[in-house]
Amino acid sequence: MTRTVVVTGGSAGIGLAAARALAGRGDRVILLGRHEQRLREARDSVGAAAAIRADFADLDAVRRAADRIQEPVDVLVNNAGGLYGGSTAIRVNHLAGFLLAHRLLDRFTARSRIVTTASLAEAWGVLDVDQPLRASRSRWLAYGGSKQANLLFTREAARRWTGRGVLAVAFFPGLVRSRFAGTSPLFMLGKPLFLAPRTAADTLVWLATAPPGELTPGGYYFMRQPFFATPRSTSADRARRLWAASLAAVGERDLAPER
Ligand SMILES: NC(=O)c1ccc[n+]([C@@H]2O[C@H](COP(=O)([O-])OP(=O)(O)OC[C@H]3O[C@@H](n4cnc5c(N)ncnc54)[C@H](OP(=O)(O)O)[C@@H]3O)[C@@H](O)[C@H]2O)c1
Repeated sequence: MTRTVVVTGGSAGIGLAAARALAGRGDRVILLGRHEQRLREARDSVGAAAAIRADFADLDAVRRAADRIQEPVDVLVNNAGGLYGGSTAIRVNHLAGFLLAHRLLDRFTARSRIVTTASLAEAWGVLDVDQPLRASRSRWLAYGGSKQANLLFTREAARRWTGRGVLAVAFFPGLVRSRFAGTSPLFMLGKPLFLAPRTAADTLVWLATAPPGELTPGGYYFMRQPFFATPRSTSADRARRLWAASLAAVGERDLAPER
């Protein structure tokens, strides 16, 4: 049966490469992106069923995008992200995907999954889990904090939603030759050595397609293998607190209240 896969950050880089691979396997792909022309070109090259434009810095735009997805969803790929400082990092890289997942939850099929693109940058991130929007002005610290949030989200989503048939997993794509961090001279220096987006997308595609029994709910992977994260990104207590603070920040109700 044809599956529907929603890919955020599908207009470029890892998301675009994964979307192409998933469409090539027969999935119906819905792309989300921000840049009009990149999104249009991505839609055409993927053969996507739909392309929805939304700037994830604007949570109302995320709500409008979610409203446009009315069909059953098999996979949500939470991949959109960038090197932003201050509260934009957490809004774009975590809260937008958190909100989208909540808005789509009742459209998820009985055996659905959420695949989130996290990063090794969690190791040096700064994140106040009780007040996530009070982020560091340093781009790399705020970015790392938002990647901690990606992993804490995955862990807590697995605790809360596995029983609803949602398999939540995350992965580190490696260092990738994409548009990411184009304004960081140091990062740009290393780019020629980095992975091609298509190579980096392999683990994403695997997580989106592997039999559920091969994956651990809440798991974090790199190159199809379980990967290490720091305790700040795996703490059950921090995951619960961030979830509560994220619900308050996006104004959503708790869809799986604590018993
Ligand atoms: N590149 C790396 O080395 C690396 C390493 C670890 C993790 N990651 C993560 O991988 C994910 C994908 O990044 P990439 O490397 O593929 O970079 P990329 O080529 O810059 O792609 C980023 C994608 O996210 C979208 N995006 C960025 N800001 C957005 C916003 N404000 N609203 C909506 N969409 C937005 C972009 O949309 P537009 O193109 O339409 O602007 C694009 O589709 C990110 O979450 C990033 O943190 C990357």
